Amino acid sequence: MKILVVGAGGREHAIVRALKRTWSGDGELEVLCAPGNPGIARDAVCFAAVADDDVDALVDLAREQSVDLVAVGPEAPLVAGLVDRLAQAGIPAFGPTMAAARLEGSKVFSKDVMEAAGVPTAGHSVLRSRDEALAALTDCRYPAVFKSDGLAAGKGVIICPDEAAAREAIEQYFTEQRFGRTDVIFEEFLDGKEVSLLAICDGERALPLMPARDFKRIFDGDRGPNTGGMGSFSPVPEVSEDQIAELSELVHKPIVDEMKRRGAPFHGVLYAGIMLTDDGPKVLEYNVRFGDPETQALLPRLRSALAELMLASTRTGGLEGSTLKASEEAAVTLTLASAGYPESSRKGDVISGLDAIPDGVEVTHAGTAFDAEGHVVTNGGRVLNVTALGVTVAAARAAAYAAAEPIMFDGRQLRTDIAAGV
Ligand code: AMP
Ligand code: GLY
Repeated sequence: MKILVVGAGGREHAIVRALKRTWSGDGELEVLCAPGNPGIARDAVCFAAVADDDVDALVDLAREQSVDLVAVGPEAPLVAGLVDRLAQAGIPAFGPTMAAARLEGSKVFSKDVMEAAGVPTAGHSVLRSRDEALAALTDCRYPAVFKSDGLAAGKGVIICPDEAAAREAIEQYFTEQRFGRTDVIFEEFLDGKEVSLLAICDGERALPLMPARDFKRIFDGDRGPNTGGMGSFSPVPEVSEDQIAELSELVHKPIVDEMKRRGAPFHGVLYAGIMLTDDGPKVLEYNVRFGDPETQALLPRLRSALAELMLASTRTGGLEGSTLKASEEAAVTLTLASAGYPESSRKGDVISGLDAIPDGVEVTHAGTAFDAEGHVVTNGGRVLNVTALGVTVAAARAAAYAAAEPIMFDGRQLRTDIAAGV
């Protein structure tokens, strides 16, 4: 069995490791990765010259290497139609087609599907111009929530405490076009605890994974701008083991049914970002792939064979009879980010302390590179993830912080309150 993982971050590193760790099939499992990174290169053969959004090159690589399955990590190649192109080449791929990936690629489309499917979500309107946006402010309650329609690497949401902030946000979307030319969703603010519930889908069924929570803001106390994710943990105390199926029936199944009805059946991971409000759970957004950094906390808990689940999800109804086994242990993931993140990210800072990783701790590489002398250096905003397991979230948290402490580089940013008080 030969699997090509597409991507270059901590999520893909976690996928590579989990594929190998949970493999129980006949024969050897060979894992390749494009483009990968220096950490992934220790666990898989990497094709560093093949970018994760270069659809043509990825299809060529999958063909040349005669892979049995391509597992796509990030959203960009999914939205660009990588899975469709691989299907034309007769290569099974884990992830949705371009048509199904619109659930993440367009928030306007996603809201439309949610409404048609009867999934609870925040009330909203669509703003198509600066004038429409300014007009919306005449009747606006604060905090106000704005979201760019298209992909924005988790940074397209601006929550405005007052009118001055809302006016500034409108300039960012429509005048500066910080997220490109895009429509903007203007929606009701939801208050509560957030939970990410991911499900593996086969076009008909949704098999939920364990619930997780991620931390999006750069600073302690959930202050500062949104990032790609500064940490995560699983499970979450607000969703018990026996509530998972019920929550999945509410947020995944109706979407899978609706997408099938629309002729764009959903295969791969459907990620529901949920707010647990006083009026019940409401969906904030869908992603069409594994979450980053939730995956780094979720997969070390997985006890089912990931490769088999991925293969089954590519076939309509293929997950029938599949179950998902998870360790009772909790997991906490920390992100070590580079100087300047998220506005910028400083590259080239030498990372020390990577040689003494304690047993049971997983360090995944997100944004690293080798410098000319062969040192591992920072090469992106999120640099490394450190994940530890423990009997409780508190125990996993203590182990994760203890393991992260000695891993140093200039300007290292590490939130100190990930999974605190859980
Ligand atoms: P999204 O990319 O839609 O998940 O939004 C990023 C983050 O912004 C979410 O994880 C929430 O923390 C926050 N957020 C998004 N929409 C809302 C909302 N309607 N009310 C409150 N917070 C929100
Ligand atoms: N953790 C949020 C995301 O992957 O989009």
